[in-house]
Amino acid sequence: YMLDNLIIVVIGASGDLAKKKTYPSLFDLYSHGYLPEHVVIMGYARSHKTNDELRDQLRPFLSDHGDASKMEEFLSKCMYKSGGYDDRDAFASLHADLLDYEAEQEVSTTSNRLFYFAVPPNVFLDAARSIHETAVSPSGWTRIVVEKPFGHDYDSCKELSLGLAELFTEDQLYRIDHYLGKEMVQNLICLRFANEFLEPLWNRNHVQCVLITFKEDFGTQGRGGYFDKSGIIRDILQNHLTQVLSLVAMEPPVRVSGPGHSHYVRDAKVQLLECVPPVTVEDVVLGQYVGDGEREGYLDDPGVPADSQTPTFCSAVVKIQNRRWDGVPFILKAGKALDDRKAEIRVQFKPPPAGSYLFDGPAIPPNELVIRLQPKEAIYLKTNVKAPGLRSAPLQSELDLSYHLRYPDTYNPDAYTRLLLDILRGQQSTFVRDDELMASWKIWTPLLHAIDEGQAAPIPYRFGSRGPAEADELAKSVGFVYSG
Ligand code: BG6
Repeated sequence: YMLDNLIIVVIGASGDLAKKKTYPSLFDLYSHGYLPEHVVIMGYARSHKTNDELRDQLRPFLSDHGDASKMEEFLSKCMYKSGGYDDRDAFASLHADLLDYEAEQEVSTTSNRLFYFAVPPNVFLDAARSIHETAVSPSGWTRIVVEKPFGHDYDSCKELSLGLAELFTEDQLYRIDHYLGKEMVQNLICLRFANEFLEPLWNRNHVQCVLITFKEDFGTQGRGGYFDKSGIIRDILQNHLTQVLSLVAMEPPVRVSGPGHSHYVRDAKVQLLECVPPVTVEDVVLGQYVGDGEREGYLDDPGVPADSQTPTFCSAVVKIQNRRWDGVPFILKAGKALDDRKAEIRVQFKPPPAGSYLFDGPAIPPNELVIRLQPKEAIYLKTNVKAPGLRSAPLQSELDLSYHLRYPDTYNPDAYTRLLLDILRGQQSTFVRDDELMASWKIWTPLLHAIDEGQAAPIPYRFGSRGPAEADELAKSVGFVYSG
């Protein structure tokens, strides 16, 4: 793509996602030399503004995301055009402008176009149809990038999916789940399949329980209107945590690099998800946060109806019915307004068989492999060693690979930056395929419908707490050991 003409169109350029994520990541790529100098970044949205007005709006969002000395040069590549998302004439005029820019770029006879949808899903299909009819690249690739919400349940997602499939082929569609762009999530394949000591243990014979956690220490903060229509399951579990689950638990793909690997990786993920039966109300603890005296509760958010039953916390026991994992509970836990901001995977092994009689004293705690996605990426293995010094009793310690200590100078770009580069390179394994998305909705839709019908109510928990105590009880009841 560096040698061809390149146009990136940000549909919905005035919105929050574009300003906070899309443009800063494009700037990051530009500053690091991953965008060609001749690139044109065209913003498109309904509101009227000039190129300079767009640049003024973007400037404050870019300052922390790249080389400041390149900011003005980057902004000079950013253009703006206004128009409706279903307005064919406006898109035809956009196409005419793009042809002019491509002619000016003059580096190649091939012109590639990437359309980044930073718009709400109710206009996805309008914008996709307009592009399909009037603005696809006449000489190179056309790629469409979309981000959740992809519907609100299985059927609505299917409808959206069929609509998009009539317009673009699967290899033109890049469905973003930004968790797939995080360093530690990208690391899972290598960690699992490039370390021979892990694979023999990575199954029901040795693993007791797996916990995948997402915690935020802030509430919905003015996003209540959006959040109330979605809830924590649609916001985090159905997408981000289910993606992590599939990478933690899938079988080795046929290939993870080289020709066809994007298909193979996603085939393996789909096969795994198809072994997961739907989660039921009995498998979950739901919560909704209340104020702590200082910070407001969820229902105090002005966008949230006073009687909302939307969960802001969910801990769910997910089963995987296949040969590798039968009987091993995977606990997926996510919550807003908790005691910490953290996302991690804990693979808890069975306790050593000799634990109860070989050593005197209390039971030996289980080994645990912890993969911390954020903050401060780390992989550590809770390991029992002899207490150092003159004592001989076992002590729980850690083999620790903390990335900020081991790789302090490595450029660690934001997830969106990594994913944008993958799109330019045509690398689809870090994007969610259509059948993968449907398999994930199949797991969560019956529970979501049961909650929508009032069959499960959230338990109140205090802002800043660990969430409802019932969630810890649920984890313990399926075998998770809290060892501090
Ligand atoms: C988004 C959710 O997809 O992910 C937000 O809509 C959430 O509610 C965010 O805050 C978390 O992303 P990260 O990268 O900060 O963990």
